[in-house]
Amino acid sequence: MTQFGHFDDAAREYVITRPDTPWPWINYLGTRDFFSLISNTAGGYCFCRDAKFRRILRYRYNGVPMDAGGRYFYIKDGDTVWSPGWKPCKTPLDTYECRHGMGYTRIVGEKAGLRAEVLFFVPPDARCEIHRVKLTNTGKTTKRFQLWSFVEWCLWNASTDMENFQRNLSTGEVEIEPDALYHKTEYRERRDHYAFYGVNRPYDGFDTDRETFMGMYNGFEAPQQVLSGTSGNTVAHGWSPIASHRFDLELAPGASDELIFVLGYVKNPQEAKFTAPGVINKAQARKMLQAYGTPAGADIAFETLKSYWDDILSRFSVASAVPELDRTVNIWNQYQCMITFFFSRSASYFESGIGRGMGFRDSNQDLAGIVHLIPARARQRILDIAATQFPDGGCYHQYQPLTKRGNNDIGGGFNDDPLWLIFGTVAYIKETGDFGILHEKVPFDNKPGTEVSLLEHLKISFAHVTDNLGPHGLPLIGRADWNDCLNLNCFSDNPDESFQTTENKTEGSKAESLMIAGLFVAEGKDFAELLAHPAVAADPKYVAKVRSAVAAMEKAVKAHGWDGEWFLRAYGYYGDKIGSNENEEGKIFIESQGWCTMARIGADEGLCDKALDAAVKHLECEHGLVLNAPAYTRYIKDYGEISSYPQGYKENAGIFCHNNPWVIIGEAMAGRADDVWRHYCKITPAFTKDQSLRKVEPYVFCQMVAGRDAARPGEGKNSWLTGTAAWTWKCVSEFILGIKPQYDGLLIEPCIPVAYGTYKVHRRFRDAEYDLTIRCTGKPGASHFIPYIPGHHTLDIEL
Ligand code: GLC
Ligand code: GLC
Repeated sequence: MTQFGHFDDAAREYVITRPDTPWPWINYLGTRDFFSLISNTAGGYCFCRDAKFRRILRYRYNGVPMDAGGRYFYIKDGDTVWSPGWKPCKTPLDTYECRHGMGYTRIVGEKAGLRAEVLFFVPPDARCEIHRVKLTNTGKTTKRFQLWSFVEWCLWNASTDMENFQRNLSTGEVEIEPDALYHKTEYRERRDHYAFYGVNRPYDGFDTDRETFMGMYNGFEAPQQVLSGTSGNTVAHGWSPIASHRFDLELAPGASDELIFVLGYVKNPQEAKFTAPGVINKAQARKMLQAYGTPAGADIAFETLKSYWDDILSRFSVASAVPELDRTVNIWNQYQCMITFFFSRSASYFESGIGRGMGFRDSNQDLAGIVHLIPARARQRILDIAATQFPDGGCYHQYQPLTKRGNNDIGGGFNDDPLWLIFGTVAYIKETGDFGILHEKVPFDNKPGTEVSLLEHLKISFAHVTDNLGPHGLPLIGRADWNDCLNLNCFSDNPDESFQTTENKTEGSKAESLMIAGLFVAEGKDFAELLAHPAVAADPKYVAKVRSAVAAMEKAVKAHGWDGEWFLRAYGYYGDKIGSNENEEGKIFIESQGWCTMARIGADEGLCDKALDAAVKHLECEHGLVLNAPAYTRYIKDYGEISSYPQGYKENAGIFCHNNPWVIIGEAMAGRADDVWRHYCKITPAFTKDQSLRKVEPYVFCQMVAGRDAARPGEGKNSWLTGTAAWTWKCVSEFILGIKPQYDGLLIEPCIPVAYGTYKVHRRFRDAEYDLTIRCTGKPGASHFIPYIPGHHTLDIEL
């Protein structure tokens, strides 16, 4: 089995040792609003705040070969041209290594006695990438060589950048200065932002015109200027602006040299855009260049970044007998939760950055992964999300990060959406004890004057379900529930219609969802507990109403949602069963098994155990639990997109990792530790062995791993930006290791095989810090409550 890299836990890095990974293995840079994607060969791009509207570097999805474009360095040493990250030149290197760390990536390439090390990072709170290039002569003779930098600018709107060439090819504008090459397309008109690529040393040549730099018919691997050892010193007008600096360098044996590049973004006040007619105000850019353009400045910025992540990752850690568990919990899962929180589902190597903004349901779920890490930002996110809601509790399915306004690209009407606001808020308050958030005034659809309290938003979220019940007393599904692809009101014959926004039959729809029913019961119980807490002390009549709605839903599920061996998935438009043994295909689905068992519906009558047994029997395969079984083998108009996928992919019997933890949590609540552990290990990348099969990054969870019916079961896709991050975090931290934040303390209630049952946890919780030694002896249902008391506590807990 080919290995492409390994973990370095002490450094909190993943070390890639061959550049030709089965798929680009990427990392993310940025912590606030300037963000970058960077692959192990330095491909990728960056943007400020919004991957669609403020794209800084151009990137070509679907390129051949893939992952073309990034921050490239070219070295010309005699007749040999090479790149430290192997690509784009692909000249064989003597040494190659890429280390993806927390918010930085370090790539080292060495060729014929010349070593180039490039450290890429985004300083916390700064709007720039730093590229710190260290060159060392490791040979025995003096080296005379040349170095070129290269980036290609995107014309800001990543969508029109790829479409509107009749205009785009005439708009490019730049300014050339000794410290930096400035990109100012459209700055002359309404834009108040520009980008720049600067360096801390006078350069020997430059280019800003792509055609001159590349040559009309050359690719990234062989720029004309590099081949000929020159620069065109071009000033781009229209066409495609780029930025490239050239340096003619000399290094004695053993000597090193360092250049620090800053790739930045600046927004100016409208009234201070220019310093002279047509000349951009560069003050902010110069400040950044000064701050980071010295080794000392870059050191400080990098140290600040390190402390940022040290602080984040010092809040929860485990020391167990299982290294795969420890590295997942202590490093990569929490890191992925942060990245997913920052990016939602906008920009990855599977998400183009133009398709989706922030999802209402997605962003609420992401909170579960970060409330313990960045509570203040979680708080703001909750208020931002709630402000996109409508007065009837419904909401836009997604909103744009730049404006924080709901966007209508996918419309609304996904009937699970409102409940996730309760989910996110409960997670936040349990972690922080900040009940005050419930009194924050939040508008509807961002319209000033419509403000009500967040608590009111939660009430109408809850009511949105009870106001929309179907004939069995179960929640109407609307466009879809969590499963975007179960489109029961769509009925589309037309390939030009979107499954998600088309409802050819809505009037009188009876399609009902058992997934929403389970979610409603689980969240309804949480909601009632919150309302009844003395810090909220809601009107007891209202609390009773919530409880009785929950009880009615449980009754409806037991009466109409139980198929004999497992929970049904849904009722279709015509009242037909979906996810029933009566169906030929799609007899059983994971979502309703997960949510109804997490809600413990019918637990006393044995329904949860039966449903979990059925999940093991029908859904489990070598790589995890598939979404449904058997897979749909043809398009079924009544069900929509789910049956559009070939068997074994995505929502049609793929291992949709996001929902595996639902079953695992259900298992944990039922005390089935062996099942919990087995399912968890299957979807957790640190435990997977075959890197070539998995294909995507071995350090992060995927949205989807190909299921048993696919061509290559076990092949991962859609890595990084997925609700899997937050859900596996919740699953492992609260249900496996058993550290459950409660309003007034921590409940310790693990579910882990006894063989791994002794471990230490360090947990910061509000103003308290706990060092816990936990020893599980396998007693079913054992738990221990630790009341919240500020200060440091060391406890030894035997359960
Ligand atoms: C994607 C979406 C998410 C949805 C899931 C299942 O991950 O981002 O909103 O719930 O697919 O369809
Ligand atoms: C696709 C995907 C689904 C995703 C949806 C978002 O249908 O299968 O996972 O949630 O698009 O629009």
